[in-house]
Amino acid sequence: MNDFSSRLIAWQKQYGRHDLPWQNTTDPYAIWVSEIMLQQTQVSAVIGYYQRFMTRFPTIAALANATQDEVLQHWSGLGYYSRARNLHNAAQTIMNEHKGKFPQAFDTIQTLPGIGRSTAAAIASFAFNQVQTILDGNVKRVLARHFAIAGWPGSPKIEKSLWAMAESLLPKTDMVAYTQGLMDLGATLCTRNKPACTACPLSSTCAALAQDRVHALPTPKPKKIIPIKRTIMLILLHGDEVMLQKRPSSGIWGGLWSFPEVENHQGITYALSQLGVIAHPDRALPILNHAFTHFKLQITPLIMCVSQQKPHTKETGTLWLPLSDTMNAAIPAPVRTIVKQILRETRSK
Ligand code: ADE
Repeated sequence: MNDFSSRLIAWQKQYGRHDLPWQNTTDPYAIWVSEIMLQQTQVSAVIGYYQRFMTRFPTIAALANATQDEVLQHWSGLGYYSRARNLHNAAQTIMNEHKGKFPQAFDTIQTLPGIGRSTAAAIASFAFNQVQTILDGNVKRVLARHFAIAGWPGSPKIEKSLWAMAESLLPKTDMVAYTQGLMDLGATLCTRNKPACTACPLSSTCAALAQDRVHALPTPKPKKIIPIKRTIMLILLHGDEVMLQKRPSSGIWGGLWSFPEVENHQGITYALSQLGVIAHPDRALPILNHAFTHFKLQITPLIMCVSQQKPHTKETGTLWLPLSDTMNAAIPAPVRTIVKQILRETRSK
């Protein structure tokens, strides 16, 4: 047996968790339910739900025969409800296609809804003592540190090498203690923010510790660079009226009323001619930044005094409104901010 697994197994037996409600059983159903609940949810949050769920649905048949509504009711508060729907569907699949018996073949387990490679491995090792490797978020952290594997573990390339690494470390025996040991080490010692390296059974061979990179590994998910778009809003004032333009129904602020926009100063003359006004620039207001999910919008509001306006032009989708009335119109937040500022300035004059 390799050194990594033998130290982990010995540590799990002495210091690991042994009394969780889904331990000390080989019932694949009981283990399966726990593994699904423990996806994306911590042990402390799961325990109560698990006990209530198993009391109400003690067998695969009981779960399969329940209504989806009742299954969801027992999941209510745990979040990620597709987990519950998949669990319920999978119970019905087991009844219909596997004669009510949880399948033992690793590849078949993975065909059930909601069971991926790592969850299938956890069930196979806990319930059937199979030699299969798990690789959840905690295990990725343990391996990335122990072998100083840089790169975000969620990227396909790094994930592939972590799977290979995890497989190469598997022991031949003691799969239950080994699998539980990986989980326990990640959850209790090799934690993201406060790793307890002095208590770790693997510290003597941990590359991240030797290189003083424990806090730098695993490499965090790369932050998306959010692009900045710039726009100039033309606030065309004519007496106490301002021009608003309806935004096209697709795209940001679809259907709302906003100020006409140009990309840059060179575009202003053409835009004015299209809008049928003669106007001259008065002053720019402070830049406004508005965040969308996929980009930031940097708005330069430019106040222009209109000296001549053609009658209402339906084709451009524009209208003239007294400035104070625009506050009651369907306008986007930054437009509201701009209008408020102009009204404030006007009042204080
Ligand atoms: N996280 C995922 N599976 C677990 C298990 N069986 N015990 C504790 N934490 C877990």
